[in-house]
Amino acid sequence: MTSFPEDFRWGTATASYQIEGAVHEDGRGESIWDRFCATPGKVQNNDTGDVACDHYHRYREDVRLMQELGLNAYRLSIAWPRILPHGRGQVNAAGLDFYERLIDTLLAAKIEPFVTLYHWDLPQTLQDEVGGWGSRETAYAFAEYTDIVSRRLGDRVQNWITLNEPYVSTFIGHETGRHAPGLRDPNLAWQVSHHLLLAHGLAVPILRTNSGPQTHVGITLSLSPTEPATDTPEDRLVAQYVDGKLNRWFLDPVFRGSYPADMLNLLPTLGVSVPKMETGDAEIIARPIEFLGVNYYYRTIVHQKPGEPIGNYEQIKPQDAEYTTMPWEVYPEGLRRLLVRLHTDYAIPEIYVTENGAAFADEVSEDGKVHDPRRVNYLREHFLKAHQAMTEGVPLKGYFVWSLLDNFEWALGYSQRFGIVYVDYPSQQRIVKDSGWWYKDMLTGKETLERA
Ligand code: FCB
Repeated sequence: MTSFPEDFRWGTATASYQIEGAVHEDGRGESIWDRFCATPGKVQNNDTGDVACDHYHRYREDVRLMQELGLNAYRLSIAWPRILPHGRGQVNAAGLDFYERLIDTLLAAKIEPFVTLYHWDLPQTLQDEVGGWGSRETAYAFAEYTDIVSRRLGDRVQNWITLNEPYVSTFIGHETGRHAPGLRDPNLAWQVSHHLLLAHGLAVPILRTNSGPQTHVGITLSLSPTEPATDTPEDRLVAQYVDGKLNRWFLDPVFRGSYPADMLNLLPTLGVSVPKMETGDAEIIARPIEFLGVNYYYRTIVHQKPGEPIGNYEQIKPQDAEYTTMPWEVYPEGLRRLLVRLHTDYAIPEIYVTENGAAFADEVSEDGKVHDPRRVNYLREHFLKAHQAMTEGVPLKGYFVWSLLDNFEWALGYSQRFGIVYVDYPSQQRIVKDSGWWYKDMLTGKETLERA
């Protein structure tokens, strides 16, 4: 029977803008996601995070649900514009109070908080006044914000995640423009990646100072094992490039102290400038941290379009595979492969899966329940692969399912249901899905991971 260590962290993950709502309450400032959602045509159905899961008001109920499911950890994020409505300067006490109440409620329920400082809701003022992550100043503003938050919560939060998925904020926010702030400028995007990583590095010693000797600091990256569609030199080269951009561009500077040399050489040939950096940046970014947070959803199979520059490739979707409604391929083996590779290539002290989960078209059945056998299967298969990676030596310490609740899925609005708890948006009623109950049974040993 597959069993995980006693002290393994089992939880769910969420993000402030995706669940909180209450965007105009208690002095919260505007974020780039408020602005993006208010721009017609940017988000499916013109959905917004104005109400979302109303977690700002219902957090006690939501913590009770986690407790009921027997979870011992929870990954949440803090909305920077609740703390500093304009990104810098004047602190909003009501914002800090909210997160303090939330953390205290979690601790009272014996649920260990893992706090992400930046899950994409940048204060709009920073975007307007300094150009957001395009400017180095935003990295220093992030350090100030980190200081304010960790001074207040550092006595009770021991696990800090600086950034969520800088790849996505960088390239989806500034190259494809599908996320806030919706810009399409490759040169700017690569520069943004550097400022985000700099922000991460600047925050590390601040968190240590304010949170004490027990502090665990980490960064969460979206990582995807990348494969060439065929064995041709062209496909192998494009797979190396995509791996470089998706994975190594963020892993190498944090865990090896420099950007990957092949990428630095390649960028100018693609007409992109290497980001401007200052002396000492590399050391700041590579400051030792305790853990890496891995967000894993799917693998990436690439095929180079003949005669086109290397950036122009096709993503191949295997036909015989299972897909979620995103539509993302279900590929549990990719998680094992990824974890083993991280362990062998980067010697990272501790790893957490900080996000993994699936969206399906869940509905409430006549019996009032939500039957989601495909999600149960998805989780089971991925947990098994994570366990296998551990037997291969990977120091995996915890697993956070995305997500606790159905929520606002960014540019796709409310069309995607990722929760192990169903949310009926009009009434805000929560219904634990079968996968939520299965998770509980797995934790209490009533269910085994092996198929019956
Ligand atoms: C990740 C995000 C998270 C959620 C999942 C589905 O990229 O970090 O907020 O949207 O995807």
